[in-house]
Amino acid sequence: MPRLLCFPGSLRAASSSTALLKALVARIGTEAEVELADIAALPHYNADHDGGAAVARLVAQLAAADGVLFVTPEYNYSVPGVLKNAIDWASRPAYQSGFRGKRCFCISVSGGAMGGVRAQGHLKYILNGMLAEVFAWQEIIVTTAPKRMTDGVFTDTEVLDFAITGVTAFLQSLPRA
Ligand SMILES: Cc1cc2nc3c(=O)[nH]c(=O)nc-3n(C[C@H](O)[C@H](O)[C@H](O)COP(=O)(O)O)c2cc1C
Repeated sequence: MPRLLCFPGSLRAASSSTALLKALVARIGTEAEVELADIAALPHYNADHDGGAAVARLVAQLAAADGVLFVTPEYNYSVPGVLKNAIDWASRPAYQSGFRGKRCFCISVSGGAMGGVRAQGHLKYILNGMLAEVFAWQEIIVTTAPKRMTDGVFTDTEVLDFAITGVTAFLQSLPRA
């Protein structure tokens, strides 16, 4: 079974993108061994320090993963700073980091009508710059996300069906450990 490392892009307890991520993980079931990147535990990136245990854990998780799934909102037309901070920590040494050749799949979410498409474009560009391999698929953007939730749970089955089709294809493409 492939090992999948999931990066959320929001730290909010009531996050719609994290709710979508959780709903997708539930649907993945036993198709993958899933781990979550704890981006909240990371210090601000500072090249003068090694970042301690939280960074070491992230780097180890990335090294062990067969694939990476990002489910992120858009902040001010781009990737949220907390997610970029996590990526920056895992991106060293440049062009030789755990992202090099790593298979990645990106989903974006927003409260508005754009579905975070600009953040998703930026994220793919960032991954490309780290020599990661972004899985080619229909762009999965989730618009008006809060309307697709019930009591904090992502419940829009049409969106979930569409998203899980892409995630499943991604998982099936991964080399197995
Ligand atoms: C700082 C900030 C910037 C935002 N910028 C955008 C934006 O550029 N585009 C957009 O569609 N939504 C933007 N939003 C709205 C988010 O899409 C919305 O808050 C979303 O629910 C956040 O994701 P979450 O529910 O996973 O925390 C922004 C929200 C915040 C807090």
